[in-house]
Amino acid sequence: MRTARAIARANIALAKYWGKSDDATNLPAVPSVSLTLDPLVTETTVTFDPGLDADAFVLDGEPAREGELARVRALLDEVRAASGLTDHARVESANQFPTAAGLASSASGFAALAGAASRAAGLDEPLEVLSARARRASASAARSIWGGVVELPAGEPGDDALSARPLAGPDHWDLRVVVAVTAAGRKPIGSRAAMRQSRTGSPYYDAWVAQSFESARAITEALMERDFDRLAPLVERSFLAMHAVAMTNEEAVIYWQPGSVAALHRVRALRADGVPVCATMDAGPHVKAICVADAADHVQAALEETEGVLRTLVARPGPGLELA
Ligand code: DP6
Repeated sequence: MRTARAIARANIALAKYWGKSDDATNLPAVPSVSLTLDPLVTETTVTFDPGLDADAFVLDGEPAREGELARVRALLDEVRAASGLTDHARVESANQFPTAAGLASSASGFAALAGAASRAAGLDEPLEVLSARARRASASAARSIWGGVVELPAGEPGDDALSARPLAGPDHWDLRVVVAVTAAGRKPIGSRAAMRQSRTGSPYYDAWVAQSFESARAITEALMERDFDRLAPLVERSFLAMHAVAMTNEEAVIYWQPGSVAALHRVRALRADGVPVCATMDAGPHVKAICVADAADHVQAALEETEGVLRTLVARPGPGLELA
């Protein structure tokens, strides 16, 4: 038996990934820029075991659903091909944060899986290779291989080795992300299906892709210069443009709930009052308020008392993949 354990963290995109240039190899059509977040940790153990007759995936103590298992198996197949191993594997993964917090556990999950599977198979692969493998499983996971500020460039069909790359470490800028949880239960449609519908169904999809390059460049520059006044409107424009494309799909994917709208207005009112804070949202109803560390208590208190906000949690920039 060969076994290894890895830890990876969730990340929040400030410049959003939404849409693929190739479905089969899961290549993003747009560049994205993220912050890796502590303490939103997933821990994954992979054991290749000659006694198993199929791969098994246990997530938070429960056997995973077939769709999730299929994506895990595809990653394990890549590792078997790279290592020459033929054994099946048991994958045990645990999120040390509530998955209902709306912070993609798939990003931390597939990053940890890419690390643990490679190590368990006896491979000693560079982080770029692990990031590319995580990206093929779930593109946002490519970014969780590194800590701090991370970029995933857009890819063209054929860019099979496309990986994310680190831009600055977790200590670059002492930011906080206050997550305002605004709804319980499952979201109506996952990001993968919704972004596919956006590409085929939204009249604004091409415009979204066209503007994404300048958007990611400007967001990166503001991050590197720690210029919050410049960063804030750019971050909000990126997620609003992404949601505009989702909302104008043929099926009109509206992730927003009343609490989301209330929280967004609250964040913007705080900013108008001089608090360095801005908002972003992923493919779900929760609002993530990004602010400088000094403002975090104030922002959290304001969101806690906003109607429709069920609870909040605070995250900070954290490190990348850790192998044990
Ligand atoms: C809205 O990485 O979950 O969170 O590559 O199909 O697995 P797949 O998509 P996924 O999409 C994340 C989209 C997002 C924005 C982002 O994280 O950049």
